[in-house]
Parts: sequence; C-alpha cells; structure tokens
Amino acid sequence: MGKKVEIYEVGPRDGFQSVSCGQIPTGVKIDIIGRIVESGVKHIEYTSFVSPKAIPQLADAAEVTRAVMEKYPEIDLFPLVPNKHGAGAAYNLGLRRAVNVVSLSASHNKANINRTHEQSLNAYIEIKQAYPDLDLIIDLATAFGCPFEGKFNEPEKVAEFLVDYVEAGMTTCCLCDTVGIADPAQTKALLSILKNSFPNLDLMVHFHDTRGAGLANTLTSIEMGVNKVQAALGGLGGCPFAPGASGNLSSEDLVWILNEMGYETEISFESLLSAAKYQAGVVQGAYSGHQINIQNK
Ligand code: COA
Ligand code: ZN
Repeated sequence: MGKKVEIYEVGPRDGFQSVSCGQIPTGVKIDIIGRIVESGVKHIEYTSFVSPKAIPQLADAAEVTRAVMEKYPEIDLFPLVPNKHGAGAAYNLGLRRAVNVVSLSASHNKANINRTHEQSLNAYIEIKQAYPDLDLIIDLATAFGCPFEGKFNEPEKVAEFLVDYVEAGMTTCCLCDTVGIADPAQTKALLSILKNSFPNLDLMVHFHDTRGAGLANTLTSIEMGVNKVQAALGGLGGCPFAPGASGNLSSEDLVWILNEMGYETEISFESLLSAAKYQAGVVQGAYSGHQINIQNK
C-alpha cells in the first residue's frame, strides 16, 4: 500500500467565495458538497461565517451547515471563521472544528480582515478562550508572498511570526499561497525551517495555481512529509472579472496524479472528475483545472 495523503477539499469555501456573477443557490452548494463526499473526500472546508457585506456569496453559511451536518455526520466538515462572531455562530450550530485566518503580510491582513497582526493574535486567543473545545486551524495567508509586498524569501521570518501562535496553543497550521507565487525550492526551505522549529506542529498546505506551480509545490510538500493537502474542485477561484486571477490547484488534477503515483487518497478520481464537470455546468466561474477540459481518454 502507498503512503496515505489526506485531501482537504476547500472549493465550497475558497472557490464559491470568488463567484461574483450571481448567488449560487443554497441547494446547488449542498448538492456539490454531496458529490464531493460521494467521491470519497473526508475533509471539506465547506463555507465561511463571515460578514455578508464582505462576502455575500456565503451569506447562507448557517443553512448550508445545518444541511451538511445532518447529511454527513461522518465527514470532517469545517468552516472558516475570521473572528469571534463567526466562531460563535459556528460553535452554536454544533461545529467543533474551524479555520481562523491571519496573513503573514500586514497589508494583506488589513485588506482581508481589517486587522493589525496584534489584533489578529488577540482575536485568536480570545476565540480559543471562549471556545476551548473548538479545534482551531490557523490558515497563514500570503505565507509565500503577497499581492502588495511581492514574494517572501525569508522563511525564518515565518517561523518567528508563528511563535506566538504556537505558544497560544496552535496545533495545525495551513501554509497558504494565496497569490500562487510559491516555487518548490521556496516551499522546501519554508517547510524544513518550520519542521525544525516546531516538530509537533501539524502542517497543511494550500497552493493557488496562478502561475501553474500549484501541483509542483504540493508534490514537493508531500515529499517533505506533509500529508494533508488542500485543493479546490475544478480549480474554481479567482474572479471572472479579474483576468489572470486563479483558484487553488484543482482537486481532481491532484487526486489523479497522486493515485497514478501510488499514493493512497481513498478518493475515486472518476467520481471527483464528474463532480467537477457537474459544478462547471451549474456554477459560472473561473476554472483552472485541466482534466475537466479533456474530451477523450
Ligand atoms: N459573520 C457575520 N457578520 C459579521 C461577522 C461574521 N463573522 N463579523 C462581523 N460581522 C458584521 C458585524 O456584525 C457588522 O455588522 P453591521 O455593520 O450590520 O453592524 C459588520 O459585519 C462589520 O463588523 P466589524 O467587526 O466592524 O468588522 P469589519 O468591518 O472590521 O470586518 C470582517 C471584519 C472579518 C468581519 C470582514 O472583513 C470579513 O468578514 N472578511 C472576510 C474575510 C475573508 O473571508 N476572506 C477570504 C478568506 S481568507
Ligand atoms: Zn485560497
């Protein structure tokens, strides 16, 4: 048996949030999540409890939560919560796992969640104190570079930044290449410093495919020992009105290559591909996946 790699599907959060041409009906979102589950995916970041003014597309977070929790109690379903308000809403619906986000780039942190680094850290501590049994993953956005500040080539600074979070009790950190600017050498350097600095920290990765490097970076991370990797169905993301913007590495492209290489994903590529094709037919957006465009075997 091959080495096990766990796929964390983030399309229903990271992909849907970028869809700006019309509201995706709640039933369609639930249907797509169901098709993802049917293909064998066990971990899904399926919505965000965010301000509907910031992201109107995910204003139905509570409704989606009620439906998917009832239908798929065996699946690890978790939302993004940018603040205590969102964490409380998720907790009160019965969720015990969520993602809180902070950007390594101070300017992106301000643009994304309107906070300084200090405010973000305090908010994280506040959420942990208010909901001690909520397993809170930290998404480190712009971990490799930022739309305003360019590429980050000092991995030791990432380790320094994370010390406060580790001391505050962070057990899982997802390194997010929000702008798809990472390369495999940078990925290797960052992972090796973080593994040395925090041997007990569980690391996940999340690469966008803006420059076509999502797969190379993800495979490099797996070679470095990371066994939890994020991807989005169809590679949905970016913005239809912003040329060049791109979504995450596509889940079906990733599952295909991992299955071909003999890794154990426990996911049916055919079934995930058909979910991606279905999604492309009902949700209008920017898709970066390759396999959804192949007509013949
Ligand atoms: N869910 C729903 N509503 C929320 C909320 C949440 N988690 N957090 C805040 N709000 C509401 C407040 O009630 C307030 O409403 P009002 O204007 O009707 O009084 C409004 O949003 C502003 O609240 P405030 O605390 O002043 O927040 P802000 O304006 O500084 O915005 C965030 C901060 C985090 C709420 C907002 O920037 C956000 O939701 N960003 C989304 C970030 C994101 O998901 N990015 C992509 C993923 S990385
Ligand atoms: Zn992302």
